[in-house]
Amino acid sequence: MTLVAPSILSADFAYLAEGVAMIENAGADMLHIDVMDGHFVPNLTIGPQVVADLRARSSMCFDVHLMIERPEKLVKPFYQAGANLITVHAEACTHLHRVVHDIKDLGIQCGVSLNPATPIEVLKYVLPDLDLVLVMSVNPGFAAQEFLPLALDKVRGLRRMLDETASPARIEIDGGINEQTGLKAVEAGVDILVAGSFIFKSTNPAEAVKVLKSLGKQRKQGDSPLASPDNGIN
Ligand code: DX5
Ligand code: ZN
Repeated sequence: MTLVAPSILSADFAYLAEGVAMIENAGADMLHIDVMDGHFVPNLTIGPQVVADLRARSSMCFDVHLMIERPEKLVKPFYQAGANLITVHAEACTHLHRVVHDIKDLGIQCGVSLNPATPIEVLKYVLPDLDLVLVMSVNPGFAAQEFLPLALDKVRGLRRMLDETASPARIEIDGGINEQTGLKAVEAGVDILVAGSFIFKSTNPAEAVKVLKSLGKQRKQGDSPLASPDNGIN
């Protein structure tokens, strides 16, 4: 089974808790929380308070995707709000190695995300410290954009890099994922599918989660458990 992380960016923000409960009941593996600052990306979304309020209502693994400049300033507030996994963008970090270690030192999982134009080689010296690499298959900022096929080639290269270095990091992909693009992504080596509009704009979101979960076979990393919902704060 493939792991599925619905993105709440596509949920109705006036009914967020209901949306989260719905996908949790549908068997989603993680909750993907898109944080945007209006600088790194043009859009503005949510802050730590919303995450804390959802944390009180959900036991899912919170997968917090920081699309913000200077992410090091908000790592701790999102950790305190209940994040289990924090992903920063390589392009947003002057001192990527330091930020990765700041996150790991909190005892939670750490991911690094790459925009479509960013090569996987930037990961070389932080790869041993990562739990996850998030490959963007759209330019970040908005839901419901078209999947960029270049991401598949990047995933294949990344899978080779992880295999060569015996890295247990998972590969997550984000942007334009549906039944067709999700299958291609899994075949290329993806472990975790993020999907916003395919799930939340579906007439049957629970079924959409199940469809994505059924794509392909989970890779060897699937044997290790996901982050505990308890990140040490709650
Ligand atoms: C894009 C976000 C994604 C996005 C996914 O900047 O990081 O998580 O909301 O939405 P869809 O699946 O609709 O592309
Ligand atoms: Zn995202």
